[in-house]
Amino acid sequence: MIQWDDSLAVGIDEIDSQHKSIIALINELATLQGSGDEATAAKALRFLRAYLHDHFELETELMLDLAYPQLKEHRQQHELFIDHVIFFEIEKEFGVVTDQMLADILAFLQDWFLTHITREDKALGVFVRTQSLSA
Ligand SMILES: [Fe+2]
Ligand SMILES: [Fe+2]
Repeated sequence: MIQWDDSLAVGIDEIDSQHKSIIALINELATLQGSGDEATAAKALRFLRAYLHDHFELETELMLDLAYPQLKEHRQQHELFIDHVIFFEIEKEFGVVTDQMLADILAFLQDWFLTHITREDKALGVFVRTQSLSA
């Protein structure tokens, strides 16, 4: 389970509130572990992926608006994530979510998401704040 605290705050309200929602979705997925409820787990994963897609779009729009210098690198991180084979395989190849897969996905998600927030998203937050100070 991921616990939200201020150390994860990026300082942009809309982004922070979406990050909280994503953490809630990841934690919800974690509660399905060991339940044997493959259909619900697959549905929760699809929802999470759709939500993440929208979230990445919001960040991309913001970066484009501000001509953010690290846009390319940041976007690449999002794309790598979206393309990640685990998500792809589940929907396209297997169509089911086993407990082992769910455990692997959760480990990957938690690790990626926390690392991405604390590195790329926070850097974006700092940039946004310096921009609005100089505006
Ligand atoms: Fe991001
Ligand atoms: Fe983000």
